[in-house]
Amino acid sequence: MSKAGRLVVLVSGSGTNLQALLDASADPAYGAEVVAVGADRDGIEGLARAARVGVPTFVERLGDHPTRAEWDEAIAARIASYEPDLVVSAGFMKILGAPTLGAHPVLNTHPALLPSFPGAHGVRDALAYGVKVTGCTVMLADAGVDSGPIIAQEAVPVLPGDDEAVLHERIKVVERRLLVEIVGRMAREGWTVSGRTVRIGKETGEESK
Ligand code: GRF
Repeated sequence: MSKAGRLVVLVSGSGTNLQALLDASADPAYGAEVVAVGADRDGIEGLARAARVGVPTFVERLGDHPTRAEWDEAIAARIASYEPDLVVSAGFMKILGAPTLGAHPVLNTHPALLPSFPGAHGVRDALAYGVKVTGCTVMLADAGVDSGPIIAQEAVPVLPGDDEAVLHERIKVVERRLLVEIVGRMAREGWTVSGRTVRIGKETGEESK
């Protein structure tokens, strides 16, 4: 059974999901704490949010490394130096490579109901398709694009007149709450993975009946 007490959170932008985790972890009863925040670019609000509460930050820019493989190694080393139980990719706009994925469990959040609309434009793609319901997904990351085992999902309605920004904000309200809930439960109760099934705590399947 894995635990999730020490979190390294990765961000690329505004970091409101990170903020939700920082706020939740201010209560020791939450069971997890953000021990570092990493980014693939400088000057983003996500890094400022961490700095304001005294959480260490690091930046590994892809362009500063001769190859993608070297960036993969560099960011994995940065992450590993904080000895996380769980890495949370919260609006981090890069696919993590084998050096990170092989060293720690990585949680990811996506603003659509996977397997529909994976990738960097999940909200835009759902809107363009004309779905009436979309939502958010919290999953474990694997080597693919938003293809890892799903842990939790919640639906969000698409309303007449929505544009990408309005719909994304409505999804993010739900996404932040779901991410905080799932990370907290994983930290407090532990979790196991079997194939594509992630079970948190005593959420056991047939074997417990
Ligand atoms: C979230 O909707 C995340 O799923 C997506 O980008 C957004 C990041 O928001 N990939 P924030 O930086 O946490 O505010």
